[in-house]
Amino acid sequence: MCGIFAYLNYRVPRSRRDIFQTLVKGLQRLEYRGYDSAGIAVDGTGKDQAANISLFKKRGKVKALDEELYKNESIDLDAQLDTHFGIAHTRWATHGEPSAVNSHPHRSDKNNEFVVIHNGIITNYKELKKFLVSKGYDFESETDTEVIPKLIKYLYDNRENDFVSFSTLVDRVIQQLEGAFALVFKSIHFPAEAVATRRGSPLLIGVRSQYEFSTEQIPVQYNCSDSKKAAVEEKNCRNRQGSLNALHSVHDGMAMEFYFASDASAIIEHTNKVIYLEDDDVAVVMEGKLYVHRVKRTAGDDPVRVIQTLQMELQQIMKGNYKAFMQKEIFEQPESVVNTMRGRICFDRDTVVLGGLSDHLKEIKRCRRLIMIGCGTSYHAGVATRQILEELTELPVMVELASDFLDRITPVFRDDVCFFISQSGETADTLMALRYCKKRGALTVGITNTVGSSICRETDCGVHINAGPEVGVASTKAYTSQFVSLIMFGLMMSEDRLSLQERRLEIINGLKKLPELIKEVLALDDKIKALADELDHQRSLLVMGRGYNYATCLEGALKIKEITYMHSEGIMAGELKHGPLALIDKDMPVIMIIMKDSCYQKCQNALQQVTARHGRPIILCCKNDPEISKMAYKTIELPQTVDCLQGILSVIPLQLISFHLAVLRGYDVDCPRNLAKSVTVE
Ligand code: M6R
Repeated sequence: MCGIFAYLNYRVPRSRRDIFQTLVKGLQRLEYRGYDSAGIAVDGTGKDQAANISLFKKRGKVKALDEELYKNESIDLDAQLDTHFGIAHTRWATHGEPSAVNSHPHRSDKNNEFVVIHNGIITNYKELKKFLVSKGYDFESETDTEVIPKLIKYLYDNRENDFVSFSTLVDRVIQQLEGAFALVFKSIHFPAEAVATRRGSPLLIGVRSQYEFSTEQIPVQYNCSDSKKAAVEEKNCRNRQGSLNALHSVHDGMAMEFYFASDASAIIEHTNKVIYLEDDDVAVVMEGKLYVHRVKRTAGDDPVRVIQTLQMELQQIMKGNYKAFMQKEIFEQPESVVNTMRGRICFDRDTVVLGGLSDHLKEIKRCRRLIMIGCGTSYHAGVATRQILEELTELPVMVELASDFLDRITPVFRDDVCFFISQSGETADTLMALRYCKKRGALTVGITNTVGSSICRETDCGVHINAGPEVGVASTKAYTSQFVSLIMFGLMMSEDRLSLQERRLEIINGLKKLPELIKEVLALDDKIKALADELDHQRSLLVMGRGYNYATCLEGALKIKEITYMHSEGIMAGELKHGPLALIDKDMPVIMIIMKDSCYQKCQNALQQVTARHGRPIILCCKNDPEISKMAYKTIELPQTVDCLQGILSVIPLQLISFHLAVLRGYDVDCPRNLAKSVTVE
């Protein structure tokens, strides 16, 4: 998905080269989200630098944009800019093909009076465009975004008073917009001023000063509804800025730096002090001070925005010696599952406490059913844990794809408990489903990996899976941590059920040993790579299993198609004779998952059906399985664990196969074509 990064240095001298590098680096940190073009806007690179804005936009990778910046010999890269505001963007095409003209920043006119970067989708852009065209504004791109800079220029051109502030113009713009957006504006009329706002798309601001901040929070201002009065008030405020509530360092007027981004990973190397904007907040940086206001006051508004300290380390988002983030994240799983359990499972006392759910446990226990909602891999985490949750909670459990759940207008009641599973916490379909369930009075629980994300903030309670930043578009460690989190939820729900104590203990012991067993699976990497070498020329790959391992089939097939572009299907072995068996012949590669659990015999039957049609399966099985080891098929032997945890181990060889296949085929493992890390559009 699109990525926003912007940098304002106030009384911090930076060369133009430094500024370019900061902007480009910011975009590179967002590359993992998926994109197809990139662009930046900075103060004019010609003589009269503050009076104009230069735009650089390019289809393709950020690297290509970076090279472009240095090709132009007329740009003075050594020029020192004491105060400057630059904006940058990676675009993932929705309206209009990937091209320089469709990429951001978009501009108001040929003089670049206003430029804007946007994440999200403006749903009423056609109506706005029609209006602006009727007023004589020319459009150059096919995007929805372009209405925004045109609209702000229209409002500026038609202002009632000579004085109008940048933020007032933005207030007026967002009142006309429908859809989802995170926006950052720059203008030649308001040099060195930045205005940023959001509705439905994340946006945060990193702040850095060499001095202490005079406050840990910014009070939110409310705008005056009468626009004339507001303009006068603002003018007065400008003249007595000190009296406006703002964030600044104790050495007022001293050097400050501000970083605007759609994602903390672009900010963390500069500062760990951030402010998350709420929907409809308008943040303004003027003369080195940050103000936040809202156009309308709504019930339940938090009157302050707190400066939070990011816990993430730059190290965590660097690739290290791995070929790709995905590979690094696969190999992090022994630690990431420990982080998920840390402080929650007490292995000495066999207790499980999920702090984020404790206050709601009684209510959850009284509910009529549990509904697990997610997309892609997060949905698979629900499929993987459904059976054990039914067993441990003794409640009906529904698992739903967020998009389908909404399409069906699924009945939801006050006594339902709805789980929203999402690595990013920003997936639009899941977020919409959350709002849908909230409206109907259900208790909402977030299972997310991103602190401060929309799902995190909008759910009644939740569990942070603590897997650490996941950069590769293909989700790996987040899946296993979601899996463990949901198992812990089941354990917490069953703590006082006498009849379930033995089962609980078995699972808790299994979780204790899990990190070591994951390491054992990862040690099979060379063998798995050799299998990938053999599969490289294939065009299709089936993954078959049932029961606790059916989710592994779905998840494995998703990983394979997502990054290797090979057709792959996860098949429920019980469905084999109802159709998929027709696909089997001597040439069709099939991975069969046959673990020592209650489905073992049925899986053996499926194996017979496959081999009787001359299929040559690769079998994922438990170590030292005498039945399977006497057969002449290729196997990957995994350590055995408790049935309901086996899926955490069985998915890892499939993560590795897909990784190796993608490398063999020369594909970009972390940024597969057409896909984005966080899907913030419906
Ligand atoms: O951030 P989320 O977990 O909500 O994302 C949901 C899916 O888009 C995501 O899991 C997707 O399927 C993965 N890229 C698959 O590897």
